[in-house]
Amino acid sequence: MQYERLVTWAHGEWQTRWPQREAIAIWASPECSNMVAQKLMKPNRRLRGKARFLGVERVDCPVVTPISDYGAWGKKMVFTSSAGALVFRFDSDNGPFEVLYVSAYFDDEVQDLSAIALVPPDRLETWAQFEGLCARAVRPKIQRRRDVYIIGGMDASFDPKVAWDDVILPDDLKTQLVSDVDSFFEDGVEIYRKLKLAPFRKLLLAGVPGTGKTLLCAALAKHCIDQGRVVVYVSGTDRDGASFEKIQRAFQAVANARYPTLLIVEEIDAYLRGDDKARILNVMDGVESPNNPRGSLLIATTNYPEAIDERITKRPGRLDRIYVIPTIQDAQQAEQMLRHYMADQWDISHNAVIDRLIGQPGAFVREAALAARMLAARERLTEVSLDMLERSIDTLTVQMTADRDFLVQRRPIGLDRAPRRQSGFGGLAPRRRTDEE
Ligand SMILES: Nc1ncnc2c1ncn2[C@@H]1O[C@H](COP(=O)(O)OP(=O)(O)O)[C@@H](O)[C@H]1O
Ligand SMILES: [Mg+2]
Repeated sequence: MQYERLVTWAHGEWQTRWPQREAIAIWASPECSNMVAQKLMKPNRRLRGKARFLGVERVDCPVVTPISDYGAWGKKMVFTSSAGALVFRFDSDNGPFEVLYVSAYFDDEVQDLSAIALVPPDRLETWAQFEGLCARAVRPKIQRRRDVYIIGGMDASFDPKVAWDDVILPDDLKTQLVSDVDSFFEDGVEIYRKLKLAPFRKLLLAGVPGTGKTLLCAALAKHCIDQGRVVVYVSGTDRDGASFEKIQRAFQAVANARYPTLLIVEEIDAYLRGDDKARILNVMDGVESPNNPRGSLLIATTNYPEAIDERITKRPGRLDRIYVIPTIQDAQQAEQMLRHYMADQWDISHNAVIDRLIGQPGAFVREAALAARMLAARERLTEVSLDMLERSIDTLTVQMTADRDFLVQRRPIGLDRAPRRQSGFGGLAPRRRTDEE
C-alpha cells in the first residue's frame, strides 16, 4: 500500500525530530499542501484550543517526488496543488507543537492527491480546524450577486431583472422555451430519476450576435428565480476567459445548490477553441454533468449558428434541444421592436423604415432608435422625425459595413472544418477564421 510508505517514513522522521512526543497518524486533507491555501493562511492566525498557526516549512522526503500544479486562480496563474512533505508549526498556551504532513499522488492516471499527517493526539481538534480552513481557502469562489451566482469575472453584462415582455421574439418561440424550462423542473426531474438518469437537460440558444440571447437568458433567469430556483451564470467571454475550470466551478455551485438550478453558460463556443474542447463535448454528452438530484437545466448560448454541425446535432444525447434565435423576421416584429425602443417618441411615420429592419438583429434596432432619439435631444426637439431615424440607420449601416471590412474577427468554434458564411448583423455576424486555414 502506497500510504504505508508515507506513514512509515513520517514516523521515522518524527522520531528523529521529536523523539519525546507522541503522534497519531491520520488521513489528512490534500488542500493543506495547496500553495494557494499556504499563501492565504497567515501566520498568527488564531485557532481552537488556544492555539496559533506559526508557519509552514518544506521537508525533504525521499518517498515522495515533489510536483505541483500550475494553473489559473482567478485572473492569475499560480502554483496550486502540490505533492511533498511539510511541517506545520503551531503555538499554544501549553507551548509549541508541530504536525508532520505528507501528500502524494498514488496513481498516475488519477490526478488526486492523498495526504497523511502525524498529529499530537491532544492537538487533533486544532489540526482539524486548520484543515478545514485550508480547504475553505481553496474552495472556488462563487460570488452571489442578486439571486444569481456569477462564476468568474464580475463584469458579466447580465441583469436578471429583464421582464419577459421586454424580449421581442416570435411568440411561439418564447412559449416553447419557457414551457421547456418549466416542464423539466415540474415533471422532468422525476421522470429522469425514475429512469435512473441524472436529471440534467441541455438546451442551446443559437443565433447571430445581437438577437437577444443574453436578454432571453436574463428573462429566463428572472422567471426561474421567481419560482424559487437557483440560477448559476457563467460566460466564456468575460475577463476571466474560457477555461474548463470555470465550468467545474459552476458545476460545483449547481451541486451545492440543493435547489433546482438553471445553469447558464454563455458563448459556449469560446470553450471549444482550446484544450478543453473534449471536456465541453463531454458536458454536452452528459458524461460530465453537475450532480444535483433536484435537477439542473443547462442553457448554453452561441453566436455561431454555423457551429451547430452534425457532430452536435446528430449525436443522440448531446444537447437535447437547439433553439435558433432569429433576426427580425417580418414587418410586424420589426414594428414591435422599433416601437419598443422609440417608446413614447414613436410616430406612425417611422413605419417607413420597417423594411430596412427586417433581417437585422434586435440590437441593431435598439441602437438605431437610441441614436435617433439622441439626435433629436441634441437639437432640443421632443419629436423624432423620420429623417433623423433614417440618418441614424444610414450611419449605423455604414459603420457595420466598415467593421465587416476592417475587423478581423475572432475565430469561431472548431467543430466544423469548412468555413461557412452567414448573413446578419453587419460586421458582427460574418466571422472570419483567423487561423488554422
Ligand atoms: N429580441 C430582442 N428583443 C428586445 N431587445 C433586443 C432583442 N435582441 C436584442 N435586443 C437589444 O439588444 C441588446 C443586445 O442583445 P443581446 O441579448 O446581448 O444579444 P446576444 O446575446 O444575442 O448577442 C439587448 O440588451 C437588447 O437591448
Ligand atoms: Mg450575448
